[in-house]
Amino acid sequence: MADALIAGGWAPSAHVRAALRSVPRHRYTPEQKLATAYADDLAVVTRRDGTGRATSSVSAPWLQADMIEKLRLHPGATALEVGSGGYNAELIAHTVGVTGHVVTVDIDPYVVHRTRRLTAEAGSGRVLVVRGDGALGAPARHVPRGGFDAIVITHNAWDIAPAWHEQLTEGGHLVVPLEIHGYTRRRPPTSRRRAARTGLDLLRLRPRPRVDGPHHPGRRPRRRRVAAAFRGRPGTRGLDEALLGVRHEAPTGVRVARGESFETLQLYLATRLPGFCRLALESERDTGIAAVPGGAASAALLGTASLAYLTHTPAAVDGAEFVAHAFGPLGPELAEQLADAVRAWDRHARGRGYPRLTIHPATASDDDLPVGDLPVGDVLTKRSTRLVFQWPGPDVTHRPFETDAPTIRTAS
Ligand SMILES: C[S@@+](CC[C@H](N)C(=O)[O-])C[C@H]1O[C@@H](n2cnc3c(N)ncnc32)[C@H](O)[C@@H]1O
Repeated sequence: MADALIAGGWAPSAHVRAALRSVPRHRYTPEQKLATAYADDLAVVTRRDGTGRATSSVSAPWLQADMIEKLRLHPGATALEVGSGGYNAELIAHTVGVTGHVVTVDIDPYVVHRTRRLTAEAGSGRVLVVRGDGALGAPARHVPRGGFDAIVITHNAWDIAPAWHEQLTEGGHLVVPLEIHGYTRRRPPTSRRRAARTGLDLLRLRPRPRVDGPHHPGRRPRRRRVAAAFRGRPGTRGLDEALLGVRHEAPTGVRVARGESFETLQLYLATRLPGFCRLALESERDTGIAAVPGGAASAALLGTASLAYLTHTPAAVDGAEFVAHAFGPLGPELAEQLADAVRAWDRHARGRGYPRLTIHPATASDDDLPVGDLPVGDVLTKRSTRLVFQWPGPDVTHRPFETDAPTIRTAS
């Protein structure tokens, strides 16, 4: 496992390499066979809720190595991990050495108990396991004078909690898998070298969409099954009726080859298009009206009783062409907006990695922070922070104060 991670470029520094070679991962994943414990791209689920949904896991080794590298730890450093499992905290403890110290906080008493037991049995003795809400940071008595040198959040976070800033020493490093308009990435890029080129370290985006999903051009809805599709979903009034009408299609002229990644397209549309949302189809209710690839949430635009979403159609020779589909009275207009944005991505942003992202405090009211105080770009306001995305291209202007896009789902 360590060799594979090092060969993939996930562990450039000597300290992290040594940690990967020394800390026995299987002692923190006793639920699993050795081969699974040491698979370099598999997380090991350690806890499920009553519905079977995984609520805790020991993360995939490539992700742990990557996040630890980004913490830029040095011998003697102190670190806070939010979300516990044992193995990751021990990797950090090994990386910071005998003079370093690690605090790990988890909200779930079962996870805390399990982590305490496993670190006591197999650990370094330098990991303190605490129960608490990580959004509040570590309990005050466990915060070193001057703060932690590094803080890593190991669950998806919608915002950057003020406590993480407050408990971080000047010049320290904070690593957060931040959700942007509902997108997070769960699969590794092919290697860390490729990830480094993207430049947006804080983000983990969704798995890249596949271009070989189903497509049903011109299909008409089956009235009976679609009638209750959006019932009760906020902002979807009139959509059920709209879906019974004719589907408008706007080809974009933008093509992708089979297997080619276009993952920055989703983030581009999400951060640049006012009215953006994601359309998620529940597979058991999918009547084939919406040709959303592979059942994945599709980039969409919502208007009054109207909806447009992005899909693709097989290209003449190879791969696929993006097409906007739309329903409702504003459908043609929304479809053109979506198609135009895809063309803008193709012209200015395609193949150029992720945008520059800067993070600013969100003040109580928009008036407190004049637009001129932020860099020019697309602004996404969270509870505590404002994110400014700076995409390349001539048409980038200030687009202030969007809030996170909703995901609309067909009803279950
Ligand atoms: C992916 S797991 C932890 C992985 C572990 N750090 C590792 O790398 O192996 C995420 C953990 O975050 C915990 N968690 C989620 N929200 C939390 C919160 N607000 N405060 C503390 N822990 C939280 C969950 O209980 C879960 O155990």
